[in-house]
Amino acid sequence: MTMDVLAKSSNAAPYDVLRVRDDFPILGTTVYGKPLAFLDSAASAQKPRVVIDAVRHVYEAEYANIHRGVYYLSQKSTQAFEDAREKVRAFLNAASDKEIIFVRNGTEAINLVAQTYGRAFLKAGDEIILSRMEHHSNIVPWQLLRDQTGIVIRVAEIDRDGNFLLDEFEKLLSAKTKLVAITQLSNSLGTITPITAIIKKAHAAGAKVLVDGCQAVQHMRIDVQALDADFYVFTGHKLYGPSGIGVLYGKAALLNAMPPYQGGGEMIRTVTFEKTDYNDLPHKFEAGTPHIVGAIGLGVAIDYVNSIGMDAIAAHEHAILDYAWGRLEEVPGVTIIGRARDHGSLISFVMDCAHPHDIGTIVDRDGVAIRTGHHCAQPVMDFFDIAATARASFGMYTSRQDVDALIEGLHKVRKIFA
Ligand code: ALA
Repeated sequence: MTMDVLAKSSNAAPYDVLRVRDDFPILGTTVYGKPLAFLDSAASAQKPRVVIDAVRHVYEAEYANIHRGVYYLSQKSTQAFEDAREKVRAFLNAASDKEIIFVRNGTEAINLVAQTYGRAFLKAGDEIILSRMEHHSNIVPWQLLRDQTGIVIRVAEIDRDGNFLLDEFEKLLSAKTKLVAITQLSNSLGTITPITAIIKKAHAAGAKVLVDGCQAVQHMRIDVQALDADFYVFTGHKLYGPSGIGVLYGKAALLNAMPPYQGGGEMIRTVTFEKTDYNDLPHKFEAGTPHIVGAIGLGVAIDYVNSIGMDAIAAHEHAILDYAWGRLEEVPGVTIIGRARDHGSLISFVMDCAHPHDIGTIVDRDGVAIRTGHHCAQPVMDFFDIAATARASFGMYTSRQDVDALIEGLHKVRKIFA
Protein backbone atom coordinates (compact mmCIF):
# COMPACT_ATOMS: atom_id res chain seq x y z
CA MET A 1 0.00 0.00 0.00
CA THR A 2 1.48 3.34 -0.97
CA MET A 3 1.19 6.19 1.45
CA ASP A 4 -1.16 9.06 0.67
CA VAL A 5 0.74 12.14 1.65
CA LEU A 6 -0.26 15.68 1.19
CA ALA A 7 1.64 18.73 2.30
CA LYS A 8 -0.67 21.31 3.87
CA SER A 9 1.89 23.97 3.08
CA SER A 10 5.59 23.85 2.36
CA ASN A 11 6.58 23.92 6.03
CA ALA A 12 3.75 21.80 7.43
CA ALA A 13 4.09 18.10 8.21
CA PRO A 14 2.71 15.94 5.39
CA TYR A 15 -0.72 14.41 5.96
CA ASP A 16 -0.12 10.78 6.73
CA VAL A 17 -3.41 9.02 6.10
CA LEU A 18 -1.99 5.67 7.21
CA ARG A 19 -1.18 7.08 10.61
CA VAL A 20 -4.69 8.54 10.84
CA ARG A 21 -6.19 5.19 9.80
CA ASP A 22 -4.24 3.48 12.57
CA ASP A 23 -6.23 5.56 15.05
CA PHE A 24 -9.50 3.95 13.85
CA PRO A 25 -9.62 0.29 14.95
CA ILE A 26 -12.50 -0.68 12.66
CA LEU A 27 -10.53 0.28 9.54
CA GLY A 28 -8.22 -2.68 10.17
CA THR A 29 -11.07 -5.18 9.97
CA THR A 30 -12.09 -7.28 7.00
CA VAL A 31 -15.51 -7.84 5.43
CA TYR A 32 -16.13 -11.15 3.63
CA GLY A 33 -12.36 -11.65 3.93
CA LYS A 34 -11.62 -8.36 2.11
CA PRO A 35 -10.09 -5.24 3.66
CA LEU A 36 -12.84 -2.81 4.63
CA ALA A 37 -13.11 0.16 2.25
CA PHE A 38 -15.44 2.40 4.24
CA LEU A 39 -16.98 5.01 1.95
CA ASP A 40 -20.08 5.91 3.96
CA SER A 41 -18.82 8.53 6.39
CA ALA A 42 -21.61 10.94 5.40
CA ALA A 43 -24.08 8.49 6.96
CA SER A 44 -21.93 8.06 10.06
CA ALA A 45 -18.20 8.40 10.59
CA GLN A 46 -16.07 5.72 12.24
CA LYS A 47 -14.65 6.38 15.69
CA PRO A 48 -11.02 6.93 16.67
CA ARG A 49 -9.62 4.84 19.50
CA VAL A 50 -9.43 7.89 21.79
CA VAL A 51 -13.22 8.30 21.62
CA ILE A 52 -13.85 4.60 22.22
CA ASP A 53 -11.39 4.61 25.13
CA ALA A 54 -12.91 7.77 26.63
CA VAL A 55 -16.43 6.30 26.57
CA ARG A 56 -15.17 3.14 28.21
CA HIS A 57 -13.15 5.11 30.78
CA VAL A 58 -16.12 7.24 31.84
CA TYR A 59 -18.29 4.17 32.38
CA GLU A 60 -15.50 2.33 34.19
CA ALA A 61 -14.17 5.13 36.39
CA GLU A 62 -16.04 8.43 36.28
CA TYR A 63 -19.71 7.78 35.67
CA ALA A 64 -22.62 9.22 37.63
CA ASN A 65 -25.60 11.42 36.80
CA ILE A 66 -24.74 15.10 36.31
CA HIS A 67 -25.88 18.36 37.89
CA ARG A 68 -27.55 16.39 40.68
CA GLY A 69 -24.96 15.07 43.09
CA VAL A 70 -22.68 16.59 45.70
CA TYR A 71 -20.52 13.49 45.70
CA TYR A 72 -17.20 12.98 43.93
CA LEU A 73 -18.31 10.97 40.89
CA SER A 74 -21.23 13.24 40.10
CA GLN A 75 -18.98 16.28 40.33
CA LYS A 76 -16.46 14.59 38.10
CA SER A 77 -18.91 13.63 35.35
CA THR A 78 -20.65 17.04 35.58
CA GLN A 79 -17.29 18.69 35.02
CA ALA A 80 -16.51 16.40 32.06
CA PHE A 81 -19.95 17.08 30.52
CA GLU A 82 -19.58 20.86 30.90
CA ASP A 83 -15.98 20.69 29.60
CA ALA A 84 -17.42 19.02 26.50
CA ARG A 85 -19.85 21.90 26.07
CA GLU A 86 -16.94 24.33 26.22
CA LYS A 87 -15.10 22.27 23.57
CA VAL A 88 -18.15 22.52 21.29
CA ARG A 89 -18.35 26.27 21.95
CA ALA A 90 -14.72 26.73 20.94
CA PHE A 91 -15.15 24.44 17.92
CA LEU A 92 -18.01 26.60 16.60
CA ASN A 93 -16.53 29.82 17.99
CA ALA A 94 -19.81 30.61 19.75
CA ALA A 95 -19.74 33.63 22.05
CA SER A 96 -20.89 31.69 25.11
CA ASP A 97 -21.29 28.08 26.20
CA LYS A 98 -24.86 29.00 27.21
CA GLU A 99 -25.57 29.00 23.47
CA ILE A 100 -24.64 25.32 23.13
CA ILE A 101 -27.59 22.99 23.69
CA PHE A 102 -26.98 19.24 23.74
CA VAL A 103 -29.67 17.29 21.90
CA ARG A 104 -29.92 13.81 20.38
CA ASN A 105 -28.95 14.71 16.82
CA GLY A 106 -29.40 17.27 14.06
CA THR A 107 -32.98 16.15 13.56
CA GLU A 108 -33.89 16.89 17.16
CA ALA A 109 -32.16 20.28 16.98
CA ILE A 110 -34.29 21.31 13.98
CA ASN A 111 -37.49 19.99 15.56
CA LEU A 112 -36.63 21.95 18.70
CA VAL A 113 -36.32 25.21 16.76
CA ALA A 114 -39.51 24.52 14.77
CA GLN A 115 -41.55 23.71 17.87
CA THR A 116 -40.24 26.50 20.10
CA TYR A 117 -39.08 29.42 17.96
CA GLY A 118 -41.52 28.45 15.21
CA ARG A 119 -44.60 28.08 17.36
CA ALA A 120 -43.85 31.16 19.45
CA PHE A 121 -42.85 33.58 16.72
CA LEU A 122 -44.29 32.43 13.37
CA LYS A 123 -47.93 32.83 12.42
CA ALA A 124 -50.24 31.99 9.53
CA GLY A 125 -49.04 33.55 6.29
CA ASP A 126 -45.42 33.96 7.43
CA GLU A 127 -42.99 32.40 4.99
CA ILE A 128 -39.97 30.21 5.53
CA ILE A 129 -37.50 29.22 2.82
CA LEU A 130 -35.88 25.80 2.46
CA SER A 131 -33.77 24.60 -0.45
CA ARG A 132 -34.63 21.88 -2.96
CA MET A 133 -31.79 19.74 -1.64
CA GLU A 134 -32.66 19.66 2.06
CA HIS A 135 -32.54 16.42 4.00
CA HIS A 136 -35.97 15.26 5.20
CA SER A 137 -34.93 16.35 8.69
CA ASN A 138 -34.91 19.94 7.43
CA ILE A 139 -38.24 19.60 5.62
CA VAL A 140 -40.64 17.54 7.71
CA PRO A 141 -40.30 19.51 11.00
CA TRP A 142 -41.32 22.63 9.05
CA GLN A 143 -44.26 20.81 7.48
CA LEU A 144 -45.43 19.83 10.96
CA LEU A 145 -45.12 23.48 11.94
CA ARG A 146 -46.99 24.54 8.79
CA ASP A 147 -49.85 22.21 9.70
CA GLN A 148 -49.93 23.67 13.21
CA THR A 149 -49.60 27.36 12.35
CA GLY A 150 -50.44 27.99 8.69
CA ILE A 151 -46.96 29.21 7.71
CA VAL A 152 -45.99 28.94 4.04
CA ILE A 153 -42.97 26.92 2.90
CA ARG A 154 -41.13 28.23 -0.14
CA VAL A 155 -38.37 26.35 -1.95
CA ALA A 156 -35.07 27.81 -3.12
CA GLU A 157 -34.05 26.18 -6.38
CA ILE A 158 -30.89 24.57 -7.70
CA ASP A 159 -29.67 24.14 -11.27
CA ARG A 160 -29.07 20.85 -13.09
CA ASP A 161 -25.56 20.65 -11.63
CA GLY A 162 -26.89 21.09 -8.11
CA ASN A 163 -25.64 24.66 -7.67
CA PHE A 164 -27.70 26.73 -5.24
CA LEU A 165 -29.28 29.58 -7.20
CA LEU A 166 -28.58 32.62 -5.08
CA ASP A 167 -30.40 35.03 -7.42
CA GLU A 168 -33.53 32.87 -7.40
CA PHE A 169 -33.30 32.62 -3.63
CA GLU A 170 -33.12 36.40 -3.35
CA LYS A 171 -36.35 36.69 -5.37
CA LEU A 172 -38.16 34.60 -2.74
CA LEU A 173 -37.20 36.97 0.07
CA SER A 174 -39.79 39.51 1.16
CA ALA A 175 -41.16 41.13 4.29
CA LYS A 176 -43.13 37.90 4.78
CA THR A 177 -39.96 35.80 5.08
CA LYS A 178 -39.34 35.06 8.73
CA LEU A 179 -36.94 32.13 8.61
CA VAL A 180 -34.51 30.52 6.18
CA ALA A 181 -33.36 26.95 6.92
CA ILE A 182 -30.65 25.73 4.58
CA THR A 183 -28.00 23.04 4.48
CA GLN A 184 -24.35 24.06 4.37
CA LEU A 185 -23.38 20.88 2.50
CA SER A 186 -25.95 18.70 0.76
CA ASN A 187 -25.83 15.05 1.86
CA SER A 188 -27.22 13.83 -1.47
CA LEU A 189 -25.38 16.03 -4.01
CA GLY A 190 -22.29 17.27 -2.18
CA THR A 191 -23.14 20.90 -3.00
CA ILE A 192 -21.60 23.45 -0.65
CA THR A 193 -24.10 26.29 -0.45
CA PRO A 194 -23.04 29.97 -0.41
CA ILE A 195 -24.13 30.14 3.21
CA THR A 196 -22.46 33.45 4.07
CA ALA A 197 -24.27 35.21 1.23
CA ILE A 198 -27.54 33.42 2.06
CA ILE A 199 -27.35 34.62 5.66
CA LYS A 200 -26.53 38.20 4.64
CA LYS A 201 -29.42 38.38 2.21
CA ALA A 202 -31.85 36.74 4.61
CA HIS A 203 -30.87 39.15 7.38
CA ALA A 204 -31.26 42.10 5.04
CA ALA A 205 -34.86 40.92 4.53
CA GLY A 206 -35.36 40.64 8.29
CA ALA A 207 -35.38 36.82 8.42
CA LYS A 208 -33.57 34.54 10.85
CA VAL A 209 -31.38 31.74 9.52
CA LEU A 210 -30.93 28.16 10.64
CA VAL A 211 -27.92 26.40 9.11
CA ASP A 212 -27.96 22.60 8.87
CA GLY A 213 -24.28 21.84 9.40
CA CYS A 214 -24.64 18.06 9.77
CA GLN A 215 -22.51 17.39 6.67
CA ALA A 216 -20.25 20.41 7.07
CA VAL A 217 -18.67 20.49 10.53
CA GLN A 218 -16.45 17.48 9.87
CA HIS A 219 -15.02 18.97 6.66
CA MET A 220 -14.44 22.69 7.22
CA ARG A 221 -13.85 25.31 9.89
CA ILE A 222 -17.05 26.75 11.29
CA ASP A 223 -17.33 30.14 12.95
CA VAL A 224 -20.94 30.84 13.88
CA GLN A 225 -20.13 34.44 14.84
CA ALA A 226 -18.39 35.19 11.54
CA LEU A 227 -21.30 33.51 9.71
CA ASP A 228 -23.75 35.42 11.90
CA ALA A 229 -25.95 32.29 11.94
CA ASP A 230 -28.96 32.55 14.23
CA PHE A 231 -29.13 28.77 14.67
CA TYR A 232 -26.56 26.16 13.67
CA VAL A 233 -27.17 22.44 14.10
CA PHE A 234 -24.94 19.40 13.78
CA THR A 235 -24.73 15.82 14.93
CA GLY A 236 -21.90 14.16 16.83
CA HIS A 237 -21.74 10.83 15.05
CA LYS A 238 -20.67 12.36 11.73
CA LEU A 239 -17.89 14.22 13.55
CA TYR A 240 -16.21 11.00 14.73
CA GLY A 241 -18.12 11.11 18.04
CA PRO A 242 -20.78 8.80 19.49
CA SER A 243 -24.28 8.57 18.04
CA GLY A 244 -27.22 9.94 20.02
CA ILE A 245 -25.59 13.29 20.73
CA GLY A 246 -26.11 16.43 18.69
CA VAL A 247 -25.80 20.17 19.10
CA LEU A 248 -28.05 23.15 18.66
CA TYR A 249 -26.26 26.48 18.65
CA GLY A 250 -28.51 29.50 18.96
CA LYS A 251 -27.85 33.15 19.65
CA ALA A 252 -28.47 33.69 23.37
CA ALA A 253 -31.06 36.42 22.79
CA LEU A 254 -33.13 34.05 20.64
CA LEU A 255 -32.77 31.07 22.96
CA ASN A 256 -33.73 33.22 25.93
CA ALA A 257 -36.85 34.44 24.14
CA MET A 258 -37.94 30.94 23.10
CA PRO A 259 -40.20 28.77 25.27
CA PRO A 260 -38.82 25.41 26.44
CA TYR A 261 -39.05 22.38 24.14
CA GLN A 262 -39.66 19.54 26.59
CA GLY A 263 -40.64 19.77 30.23
CA GLY A 264 -39.01 17.73 32.97
CA GLY A 265 -36.16 17.65 35.40
CA GLU A 266 -33.11 19.88 34.91
CA MET A 267 -34.91 22.48 32.78
CA ILE A 268 -36.61 24.03 35.83
CA ARG A 269 -35.63 26.31 38.70
CA THR A 270 -38.71 25.86 40.88
CA VAL A 271 -41.85 23.79 40.41
CA THR A 272 -45.20 23.98 42.17
CA PHE A 273 -48.48 22.63 40.85
CA GLU A 274 -49.48 26.21 40.10
CA LYS A 275 -46.36 27.42 38.32
CA THR A 276 -42.89 26.47 37.12
CA ASP A 277 -39.90 28.77 36.69
CA TYR A 278 -37.56 27.64 34.00
CA ASN A 279 -33.83 27.22 34.35
CA ASP A 280 -31.27 29.43 32.62
CA LEU A 281 -29.57 28.58 29.35
CA PRO A 282 -28.49 26.05 28.31
CA HIS A 283 -30.36 23.88 30.83
CA LYS A 284 -33.77 25.29 29.88
CA PHE A 285 -33.58 23.14 26.73
CA GLU A 286 -32.04 20.03 28.30
CA ALA A 287 -34.89 18.28 30.09
CA GLY A 288 -34.10 14.91 31.63
CA THR A 289 -30.85 13.03 31.98
CA PRO A 290 -28.87 13.72 28.81
CA HIS A 291 -26.52 11.48 26.86
CA ILE A 292 -23.75 12.21 29.36
CA VAL A 293 -21.13 9.92 27.90
CA GLY A 294 -22.10 10.89 24.36
CA ALA A 295 -21.34 14.54 25.06
CA ILE A 296 -18.03 13.66 26.71
CA GLY A 297 -17.16 11.42 23.75
CA LEU A 298 -18.04 14.24 21.35
CA GLY A 299 -15.67 16.53 23.24
CA VAL A 300 -12.89 13.98 22.82
CA ALA A 301 -13.73 13.64 19.11
CA ILE A 302 -13.37 17.42 18.76
CA ASP A 303 -9.98 17.27 20.53
CA TYR A 304 -8.96 14.55 18.10
CA VAL A 305 -10.07 16.50 15.02
CA ASN A 306 -8.20 19.55 16.35
CA SER A 307 -5.07 17.45 16.89
CA ILE A 308 -5.07 16.45 13.20
CA GLY A 309 -6.10 19.98 12.15
CA MET A 310 -9.20 20.93 10.18
CA ASP A 311 -7.20 22.58 7.40
CA ALA A 312 -5.11 19.43 6.92
CA ILE A 313 -8.24 17.24 6.96
CA ALA A 314 -9.95 19.50 4.41
CA ALA A 315 -6.93 19.46 2.09
CA HIS A 316 -6.68 15.67 2.29
CA GLU A 317 -10.39 15.20 1.63
CA HIS A 318 -10.28 17.55 -1.36
CA ALA A 319 -7.43 15.55 -2.83
CA ILE A 320 -9.44 12.34 -2.32
CA LEU A 321 -12.52 13.96 -3.86
CA ASP A 322 -10.54 14.98 -6.95
CA TYR A 323 -9.01 11.54 -7.25
CA ALA A 324 -12.35 9.73 -6.84
CA TRP A 325 -14.08 12.08 -9.28
CA GLY A 326 -11.48 11.39 -11.96
CA ARG A 327 -11.55 7.65 -11.41
CA LEU A 328 -15.36 7.47 -11.41
CA GLU A 329 -15.53 9.32 -14.69
CA GLU A 330 -13.30 6.65 -16.24
CA VAL A 331 -15.92 3.96 -15.57
CA PRO A 332 -18.20 3.54 -18.62
CA GLY A 333 -21.88 4.13 -17.89
CA VAL A 334 -21.32 6.15 -14.69
CA THR A 335 -23.10 9.50 -14.37
CA ILE A 336 -22.28 11.75 -11.45
CA ILE A 337 -25.37 13.42 -9.95
CA GLY A 338 -24.46 16.75 -8.39
CA ARG A 339 -21.62 18.60 -10.11
CA ALA A 340 -21.76 21.88 -8.23
CA ARG A 341 -18.82 24.26 -8.54
CA ASP A 342 -18.36 24.25 -4.78
CA HIS A 343 -18.42 20.60 -3.84
CA GLY A 344 -17.83 18.70 -0.59
CA SER A 345 -16.51 15.28 0.31
CA LEU A 346 -19.02 12.97 -1.32
CA ILE A 347 -20.05 11.86 -4.78
CA SER A 348 -23.48 10.63 -5.81
CA PHE A 349 -23.71 8.63 -9.01
CA VAL A 350 -25.84 6.27 -11.05
CA MET A 351 -24.91 3.61 -13.62
CA ASP A 352 -26.76 2.91 -16.83
CA CYS A 353 -26.61 -0.86 -16.31
CA ALA A 354 -27.61 -1.34 -12.66
CA HIS A 355 -29.85 0.00 -9.91
CA PRO A 356 -27.95 1.68 -7.04
CA HIS A 357 -28.99 -1.10 -4.65
CA ASP A 358 -27.44 -3.68 -7.00
CA ILE A 359 -24.27 -1.58 -7.17
CA GLY A 360 -24.14 -1.39 -3.37
CA THR A 361 -24.71 -5.12 -2.99
CA ILE A 362 -22.04 -6.13 -5.51
CA VAL A 363 -19.32 -3.83 -4.15
CA ASP A 364 -20.17 -4.85 -0.58
CA ARG A 365 -18.95 -8.39 -1.35
CA ASP A 366 -15.53 -6.81 -1.94
CA GLY A 367 -15.60 -4.99 1.37
CA VAL A 368 -16.70 -1.62 -0.07
CA ALA A 369 -19.34 0.19 2.02
CA ILE A 370 -21.33 2.87 0.15
CA ARG A 371 -24.81 4.21 0.74
CA THR A 372 -27.53 3.62 -1.83
CA GLY A 373 -31.07 4.99 -1.94
CA HIS A 374 -32.71 8.40 -1.80
CA HIS A 375 -30.49 9.58 1.07
CA CYS A 376 -33.49 11.02 2.94
CA ALA A 377 -33.68 13.68 0.24
CA GLN A 378 -36.56 12.59 -1.99
CA PRO A 379 -37.37 16.07 -3.37
CA VAL A 380 -33.91 16.31 -4.91
CA MET A 381 -34.21 12.79 -6.36
CA ASP A 382 -37.50 13.91 -7.96
CA PHE A 383 -35.72 16.98 -9.33
CA PHE A 384 -33.22 14.75 -11.14
CA ASP A 385 -36.00 12.30 -12.04
CA ILE A 386 -34.30 9.37 -10.37
CA ALA A 387 -35.36 7.15 -7.48
CA ALA A 388 -31.95 6.68 -5.95
CA THR A 389 -28.21 7.12 -6.29
CA ALA A 390 -25.13 5.31 -5.08
CA ARG A 391 -23.04 7.58 -2.87
CA ALA A 392 -19.40 7.38 -1.88
CA SER A 393 -18.47 9.72 0.95
CA PHE A 394 -15.10 10.52 2.44
CA GLY A 395 -13.58 11.31 5.79
CA MET A 396 -10.21 12.15 7.25
CA TYR A 397 -9.17 8.49 7.00
CA THR A 398 -10.22 7.81 3.39
CA SER A 399 -7.37 6.55 1.24
CA ARG A 400 -6.90 6.22 -2.49
CA GLN A 401 -6.97 2.47 -1.96
CA ASP A 402 -10.56 2.77 -0.68
CA VAL A 403 -11.47 4.57 -3.89
CA ASP A 404 -9.58 2.02 -6.01
CA ALA A 405 -11.56 -0.79 -4.36
CA LEU A 406 -14.82 0.98 -5.29
CA ILE A 407 -13.73 1.46 -8.89
CA GLU A 408 -12.76 -2.22 -9.18
CA GLY A 409 -16.18 -3.11 -7.78
CA LEU A 410 -17.93 -0.90 -10.34
CA HIS A 411 -16.11 -2.68 -13.17
CA LYS A 412 -17.42 -5.91 -11.69
CA VAL A 413 -20.94 -4.43 -11.68
CA ARG A 414 -20.54 -3.66 -15.38
CA LYS A 415 -19.37 -7.17 -16.11
CA ILE A 416 -22.43 -8.64 -14.38
CA PHE A 417 -25.13 -6.23 -15.58
CA ALA A 418 -23.97 -4.51 -18.77
N1 ALA B 1 -28.15 11.82 6.75
C1 ALA B 1 -27.25 10.71 6.70
C2 ALA B 1 -26.79 10.41 5.29
O1 ALA B 1 -26.76 11.28 4.47
C3 ALA B 1 -27.74 9.53 7.41
O2 ALA B 1 -26.45 9.30 4.99
